[in-house]
Amino acid sequence: MTSAVTIPRHGGTGTRTAVAARGRQVVKAYGSGETRVVALDHVDVDIARGQFTAIMGPSGSGKSTLMHCLAGLDSVTGGQIFLDETEITGLKDKKLTQLRRDRIGFIFQAFNLLPTLNALENITLPMDIAGRKADPAWLNRVVETVGLGERLRHRPNQLSGGQQQRVAVARALAARPEIIFGDEPTGNLDSRAGAEVLGFLRQSVDELGQTIVMVTHDPVAASYADRVLYLADGRIVDEMYRPTAEAVLDRMKDFDARGRTS
Ligand SMILES: Nc1ncnc2c1ncn2[C@@H]1O[C@H](COP(=O)(O)OP(=O)(O)O)[C@@H](O)[C@H]1O
Ligand SMILES: [Mg+2]
Repeated sequence: MTSAVTIPRHGGTGTRTAVAARGRQVVKAYGSGETRVVALDHVDVDIARGQFTAIMGPSGSGKSTLMHCLAGLDSVTGGQIFLDETEITGLKDKKLTQLRRDRIGFIFQAFNLLPTLNALENITLPMDIAGRKADPAWLNRVVETVGLGERLRHRPNQLSGGQQQRVAVARALAARPEIIFGDEPTGNLDSRAGAEVLGFLRQSVDELGQTIVMVTHDPVAASYADRVLYLADGRIVDEMYRPTAEAVLDRMKDFDARGRTS
């Protein structure tokens, strides 16, 4: 786990804190007056470097909002977000765009691959756009870890859903971001392809020292993580280390039961 701290990353100073990202008293409200919805209610959260964190909770509990705020995709109403030592809340648009491009990786439910580019071109596209050269040794390692070596010249429509999402994961990893965020990254995949992608995410944490935050509502997906954070009504209400699918499922039933009786 500690290997992540010593891996030199793009734009890095060489030393990194053990916390990759943190939120302090984060509030996110939508609308105003009678239609005001508080999606995040004074959330304090630390995301450990080199760990795989899952964010769980019922629909509408604020999972996506928390991820978007941590990733600088959405502004906050109150509180602070830090990526390593950089406070991202309050950054001007241009700086924020740069920070997202250079330091954060994203994997979404829709794979968002360009259909006219082959797998390899899709993987290196963000770096090509940023005018950065991929480190060939790193790129090889990522491609090997994803197990796409034979398919690099294939276009997305020549790949299965699982393979396409592995390309999207490789694309996120290739630029060596400090942290990768995924919102239901296996939500569009059948269970076999989902397991393939989750296994690969797990491997990228164990072998490449990647930090990953994944929003999911699936206990099996959450069981691949090192730690699960549970959200309810915009607050972190519980957490679990070394989760198993059974333990996560039990915990969720517990929340459901409490929700119904209160
Ligand atoms: N753009 C928006 N405008 C208004 N309300 C929103 C918006 N996005 C999310 N919400 C509300 O914020 C709450 C949390 O949403 P979300 O973070 O998407 O939950 P989850 O991902 O856990 O399902 C919900 O009540 C949702 O309706
Ligand atoms: Mg969501």
